Amino acid sequence: MGYVGLVAGTCYAHVGHEVKCLDSEQSKIKDLNNGIIPIYETGLKELVLNAVSERKLSFAHNNIAISSDTDLFVIAVGTPSGANGSAYMGFVHSVVSDVIKRVSAFPSNKSYYILVKSTVPIGTAKYIRDRIADNSLSNKLHVISNPEFLREGRAVKDFLEPDRVVIGTDNKAANDMAYRLYSPIFKDSSECENKIFYTSNVTAELIKYFTNGYLSYRISFINQAADLCENVDASLSDLMCGLGMDSRIGSSYLSPGPGFGGSCFPKDTRELMYSSSANSSPMTLLQHAVNYNEDRKLKIAHSILRGVQQMAGIKKEEYGNKKVNILLLGIAFKEETDDIRESVSLSIIDRLLSVCGDSVSITAHDPKACENLKSYIDANSRDQSWLSILIEKDMEKSIQNSDYDIVIVATRWSNFIGNSFLEKSIKDKKSVFVYDLHNIMRFPEDIIFDSYKRQLFSLGKNLLKIWGNK
Ligand code: UGA
Repeated sequence: MGYVGLVAGTCYAHVGHEVKCLDSEQSKIKDLNNGIIPIYETGLKELVLNAVSERKLSFAHNNIAISSDTDLFVIAVGTPSGANGSAYMGFVHSVVSDVIKRVSAFPSNKSYYILVKSTVPIGTAKYIRDRIADNSLSNKLHVISNPEFLREGRAVKDFLEPDRVVIGTDNKAANDMAYRLYSPIFKDSSECENKIFYTSNVTAELIKYFTNGYLSYRISFINQAADLCENVDASLSDLMCGLGMDSRIGSSYLSPGPGFGGSCFPKDTRELMYSSSANSSPMTLLQHAVNYNEDRKLKIAHSILRGVQQMAGIKKEEYGNKKVNILLLGIAFKEETDDIRESVSLSIIDRLLSVCGDSVSITAHDPKACENLKSYIDANSRDQSWLSILIEKDMEKSIQNSDYDIVIVATRWSNFIGNSFLEKSIKDKKSVFVYDLHNIMRFPEDIIFDSYKRQLFSLGKNLLKIWGNK
């Protein structure tokens, strides 16, 4: 039960269904039964506690017996990237076997449903249906493909106020079951009709991949536009505005940044490229967008490295000591989450430590992701140099204790914007470089970046080149 399973299970319970969430990890179940939520997700804890107290939601080990009154089995296990980019399906397959085994023992006068919420490759519903047929259960067990479109940090809201619910099936009974599951989310039948979209299983599988693929493509598109703005001295913010005002384009997913990360876009674009090639229609446009995204992360790290070199020169000149102190604000792959998977901050840290070694000292702060960075360092037994990173949960302390020369704003957390403690500290510095990797910082006019010792690098402006030659 990862973040999709927990959010979905909780939201189903919130709208009145009776839900049992199963997992193989005893410690996770114990925590959940004690009200400890394993992930940070806005609004989730309140919903979990409420649904548990109303006896709509419970947590248990996946080896428990399940009543034959159960109607629906939801698969919400992970499908991580395998070595060749394709999604690893071992967890899905094992849940399918488990459900088939359970349903085989249930009475035959009732229909059961497997609802696939995990992001699964093209053909997965067919695979499950074949397994069901092999076990002579085709009349009793049906497959619903129901991809999720939950953004981390807003997952509860996305679930309860969806743009659409995509239902892929091959029979009416399965459509009816999906309707029963989702109709309580909507205010009336007309909203249900507008928002629930029925299609075939394979099309539902594709809709998920094309949504993430298209959004990733769009982000690379605006990021590439940021590079061009920098080279021709155009205003990136005005460009975004001018593009977004066209109702055919719209303004969402047009915020430039250091490159997309997280557990979904990178993984799902890899799988879509893999499966499109395997099905003789390679998504070449997407391949370019993904390659560009990877290059972008390297380019940005390179630009920061050049800044470090320049700052080392300034420090030598001023204090006879070349060590550069770096304050990294933001570890999570985006705001409102503690998830650090494929976060750009990790690639920046990696580059800084591998190229600069102990000539840099890094302090990292994030409102929610500090613990995950610590666990990441432990779990990956990273190079010794990672142990030197000072991880500070309190933003003011991170500013105070780091004695930073360079600030990197790597995540769009709102409390980094207009933070007076940070602003005052930057103002007081004789020399400082600020890397704003999301163009979110709005510094007051009396904070001046006007010399080779005080520089602001932002997207579309100076990020990829270094100001002055000194
Ligand atoms: C994404 C999709 O948005 C969800 O619809 C989908 O359900 C989910 O993947 C999934 O497949 O499970 P998520 O990865 O949580 O959700 O986060 P997003 O908010 O979409 O951001 C993804 C990455 O794109 C982040 O690195 C973010 O910083 C970046 N981004 C996003 C931009 O650089 N610019 C933007 O305008 C938007």
